Amino acid sequence: MTEPRVRQMCAADLPEVLETDRLSLPRPWSEALWREELESPFSLYLVLEESGEVHGHIGLKLLSDEAHVMTIAVRSEKRRRGYARMLIQAALAVPVAAGVRRVYLEVRPSNIAARSLYESLGFRTTAVRRNYYGDEDALLMTLDLEHR
Ligand SMILES: CC(C)(COP(=O)(O)OP(=O)(O)OC[C@H]1O[C@@H](n2cnc3c(N)ncnc32)[C@H](O)[C@@H]1OP(=O)(O)O)[C@@H](O)C(=O)NCCC(=O)NCCS
Repeated sequence: MTEPRVRQMCAADLPEVLETDRLSLPRPWSEALWREELESPFSLYLVLEESGEVHGHIGLKLLSDEAHVMTIAVRSEKRRRGYARMLIQAALAVPVAAGVRRVYLEVRPSNIAARSLYESLGFRTTAVRRNYYGDEDALLMTLDLEHR
């Protein structure tokens, strides 16, 4: 058993990443969308690997002085071990170094696990996006990196 580590995602990780998404999210992305995202120069995609297996991932888009968390998921059997927190902290190191000032994300109000995670890292709810998911509103959560 090796220590969990966070590293850059590559195309070879996609089968495990797609599987995690399929089991974790109500609307998982298609493989085509994943490939597009991985190729974007504005993207930052990381995985958490342990003993050669990928247990979780995160994706950010970096645009000017803002970063947007596009996706995050951890395999259900590997949750509550601090892996999502590790992924966010590793992903945020890049925008901080690049001078990004604010990080945004959308979350379902019903997603208590994700909301607790984001709040524990300093994100605050700053707006509601009505009917964002079609079947539910989204809370817009913001992390102000300048005034932490
Ligand atoms: C949200 C998610 C990524 C959290 O992953 P995780 O690896 O279990 O999270 P961590 O272990 O790093 O948890 C960090 C903190 O988040 C909060 N948290 C995480 N899961 C929680 C839960 N089920 N209930 C309450 N708080 C929770 C806690 O504050 C936790 O700290 P603690 O364990 O010291 O109390 C995971 O539940 C998941 O993949 N969910 C499905 C996909 C999803 O909803 N993605 C987010 C879309 S916006």
